[in-house]
Amino acid sequence: MPSSARLSTLQHISSPSPAPRPSARLRPLARTQPVTRIQPALRPAPSGPIVKWAGGKGKLLGALIANMPARFGRYFEPFLGGGALFFRVSPERAVLADRNDDLMNLYRCVAWKVDAVIQRLEAHRAEHSEDHYYAVRDHWNAEPRTQSAVERAAAFLYLNKTCYNGLFRVNQKGHFNVPMGRYTEPRICDREQLKAASQVLRGAELNTGSFADQVADARAGDFVYFDPPYDPVSRTASFTSYTASAFGPDEQRELATVVRDLTRRGVHVMVSSSDTPFIRRLYRGLDIAQIAVARAINSRASARGAVSELIVTNGYL
Ligand SMILES: C[S@@+](CC[C@H](N)C(=O)[O-])C[C@H]1O[C@@H](n2cnc3c(N)ncnc32)[C@H](O)[C@@H]1O
Repeated sequence: MPSSARLSTLQHISSPSPAPRPSARLRPLARTQPVTRIQPALRPAPSGPIVKWAGGKGKLLGALIANMPARFGRYFEPFLGGGALFFRVSPERAVLADRNDDLMNLYRCVAWKVDAVIQRLEAHRAEHSEDHYYAVRDHWNAEPRTQSAVERAAAFLYLNKTCYNGLFRVNQKGHFNVPMGRYTEPRICDREQLKAASQVLRGAELNTGSFADQVADARAGDFVYFDPPYDPVSRTASFTSYTASAFGPDEQRELATVVRDLTRRGVHVMVSSSDTPFIRRLYRGLDIAQIAVARAINSRASARGAVSELIVTNGYL
């Protein structure tokens, strides 16, 4: 769908009883701070995401870009996952993080050791078979870990490209437990894409850790995009197993506190979220845009159609 069509689904809504806005007016950027200009002409992205990721924002890019500030200092993305927005915008200065250390190890290796990663990945590609997949998965889960950082990064990419549905999911012990997918010719190693991603990632600080620590030194005029694990719309809809620990209501509340603190400090903030009464209450008083997102084709009639999601910003537009 062209981004203009998708943007037409945007609908700004206001809170039922608007609470006082927590100083949504932002201070201008300091003169000395280099600025990223995002609109109107967004340059072509050098690379797309290098992993398929549950909750990836590829389909929401038009709406996210339309809701970003026109210019900002540094770009922060503390729930990086597959980094759909980061790779689309490709900012020159970024602070990126995720609590999943294997994912951040992958990005660090692609940034600084891309040729070694490609070499190992080509070896997996040459050996790809059902036996090889399960041997790599067993080795990945084995304790103590014996793989080097580059071996683990290449194994991560191999498993991500060949596992069922491309879904990285771990159990409570932190073990990767997804069976092999049935692809006729999986694209296991895309050299050009990895090299392009390497260039983009080199401009970024790449951290493992929880979201609050990652934005501690964000300054007025910087931009933070938060894409946390979604608040489940129903009890059965929960997907929080990107890492062995869950993201529940307490973490959602902590995130909302961090967002309000950043707002007071003059930092541009955007949050994407599922549309639930709890999330609407948490962000009451900030700008909330409701967007309709087409669901994946589903054989159950009840699961077809569009689902409502929210983009919360702190009033910089
Ligand atoms: C919805 S996904 C992000 C998807 C991403 N925007 C994309 O386009 O692929 C949420 C991410 O948050 C990470 N995560 C979960 N809890 C976290 C925490 N407390 N701090 C930082 N990251 C966390 C997960 O590992 C997951 O990668």
